[in-house]
Amino acid sequence: MATIGKEIKHAVELLNQGELVAIPTETVYGLAGNALNPKAVAKIFDVKERPSFDPLIVHIADIADVAPYTRDFPAKAKALADRYWPGPLTLLLPKKDIIPDLVTSGLDTVGIRCPDHALTRQLLSSIDFPLAAPSANPFGYVSPTRPEHVDDQLGTRIDYILDGGPCTVGIESTIVGFVEEQPVVYRMGGLSVEAIESVVGKVKVQLHSSSQPQAPGQLKSHYAPRKEIRVGNIQELLERYPKKTGVLSYRTKFDVAHQRVLSPSGNLSEAAQNLFTALRELDQANIELIVAEWVPDHGLGRAINDRLRRAEAKRD
Ligand code: TXA
Ligand code: MG
Repeated sequence: MATIGKEIKHAVELLNQGELVAIPTETVYGLAGNALNPKAVAKIFDVKERPSFDPLIVHIADIADVAPYTRDFPAKAKALADRYWPGPLTLLLPKKDIIPDLVTSGLDTVGIRCPDHALTRQLLSSIDFPLAAPSANPFGYVSPTRPEHVDDQLGTRIDYILDGGPCTVGIESTIVGFVEEQPVVYRMGGLSVEAIESVVGKVKVQLHSSSQPQAPGQLKSHYAPRKEIRVGNIQELLERYPKKTGVLSYRTKFDVAHQRVLSPSGNLSEAAQNLFTALRELDQANIELIVAEWVPDHGLGRAINDRLRRAEAKRD
């Protein structure tokens, strides 16, 4: 098992040696390595068992670190960064050669984000390179939102997990790219589409949903528990599958032994914060099937529904 601790110095030492460290962010925990060191980056793909066609996000300390790694910072991208960084927003920008091709899977753009977590920002300002970090889970599984989640799944493969407590947003960053300077949302996440539109006006949402994504790793099946999951009307699903079924509901309690309620008061931020822990716990419970329901499809609810859709797609 890995050591879980708050020693930034130790994390810095490991990263300087080209080793990996799991880091907290406000969205989910990341599996971090020196983004400018191809060997460290290769380790990330190896530990995560991630296919090399799926590019990594590069984490920086603040907006001033965009220029050294990118060739262009469109006005709308800058406006979004000014407003929402540090925060759950990843911008796809044309990369400079200093970013190894392995990081971007050969793409000409690099995903950049400034995470909003005090410990990780302190870490980033103690090193002189940016951190490539995918979510710290085996490829395709639910992202970790607590240090123990990382330890459960990658603890034998990494030495150190920087303990920043439970993630406050709980769902991955929103990914925004630019086509002829116009923003396109490629992954819905911890920053709502409405929040983005309040700064740059109407945006296109283009979620890839195929088994062979062009780039954004938006596999149809992703973020998935190992157990089968069905999403719809929980009462009807329970009548159809009465045995060994666990429930993941938005607000309502059901009369079953294994259940998680995402937000009794109907708060979508709270629901996002609880989503991945609830999925993990139900995945580990003594049940055969998870039934869930859609949450209201606005704000963070759109990202939650997107994750539920991808988790369900596993059975196709
Ligand atoms: O909240 C987050 O974004 C977390 C934390 C750790 O920062 N990271 C994260 O990374 O979710 P990951 O690797 O699990 O998901 C990143 C997604 C992948 O689907 C990848 O395909 C996409 O971002 N991506 C990265 N760079 C890209 C690029 N240049 N073009 C298109 N998609 C890109
Ligand atoms: Mg991931």
